[in-house]
Amino acid sequence: MAHSKDYSSISPSAKSLLMMKGYTQIPYAQQTAALVDGKEIFDLNFEDKDFFFWLRVMHFESRYWSIDQLLKQTDSKNILELSSGYSLRGLALCDADAQLHYIDTDLSDVIAHKQNMIAQLQLDKNTKGKLELLPLNALDSSAFNDVINKFDNGPLTIVNEGLLMYLNMDEKKQLCKLIHHTLKQRGGCWITADVYIKLPADKANYLPKSKSEAEFTQQHNIEENKFDSIEQAHAFFKEQGFEMVAEATVDFKDMSALPQLLKAMPEEARNSKVRPPKIQSTWMLKAV
Ligand SMILES: C[S@@+](CC[C@H](N)C(=O)[O-])C[C@H]1O[C@@H](n2cnc3c(N)ncnc32)[C@H](O)[C@@H]1O
Repeated sequence: MAHSKDYSSISPSAKSLLMMKGYTQIPYAQQTAALVDGKEIFDLNFEDKDFFFWLRVMHFESRYWSIDQLLKQTDSKNILELSSGYSLRGLALCDADAQLHYIDTDLSDVIAHKQNMIAQLQLDKNTKGKLELLPLNALDSSAFNDVINKFDNGPLTIVNEGLLMYLNMDEKKQLCKLIHHTLKQRGGCWITADVYIKLPADKANYLPKSKSEAEFTQQHNIEENKFDSIEQAHAFFKEQGFEMVAEATVDFKDMSALPQLLKAMPEEARNSKVRPPKIQSTWMLKAV
């Protein structure tokens, strides 16, 4: 069974992402990033913060907002986030909406750590909506259904970012089956920021990696787990019974990391007419 695999070996990536997001205006990211110690799995260059550092920060910042952008196109009052890491999107949305029921999930250690962060910083004093933080292995069908059953009847929006590239084809299909079954029963949609496309061979080393990040990437087959092309991603989701109904279009001008990125940008990149490859898209999918 896929869920006998040790998915917790993926969890250190969530800490690296939080530390990068600590340099953005993503809600609660600065405060929570300040709570974690400096060691992280990707061995990122926090000392010099070069161009590639800011490229990554901006990528994860834009990926975060791309989900919020598509969420605004739904009127769902039930939201389930899978593999949320140290994101506090649920808390931020529940601060503003008393009608919202948001269930924020990840593996148990991450959720316990995140609950500690919230308690330590007393971040949930003004929460108006109903926010639950629950441990969930997204591939465990019975645990998945137990979480779904916590919502009142009505359409459900499922969101996730940063999970599919850690799952092989069978695991991706297993997750799609659970989500498809749920959305067929209840209505709603799935917003995933995980439509990552493999880099063309000549761009494979576009983003320099430390030894430790290269090992992590290899250990989890991240490059192989991405889609071959946008066409293949469409075909994959279609085979699983989904239709793409909207795509996020984040404007990089709105990203809080942009000024630092521009400052650190080398002269040749500034003058280059070659656009960086589009490696990721965020889609809203409906079960058909
Ligand atoms: C790259 S992080 C992304 C975290 C967060 N979504 C973000 O973008 O900051 C990947 C997350 O997936 C979680 N994860 C890995 N396998 C999982 C599984 N089977 N079920 C639920 N979460 C899982 C890890 O614990 C980790 O928090």
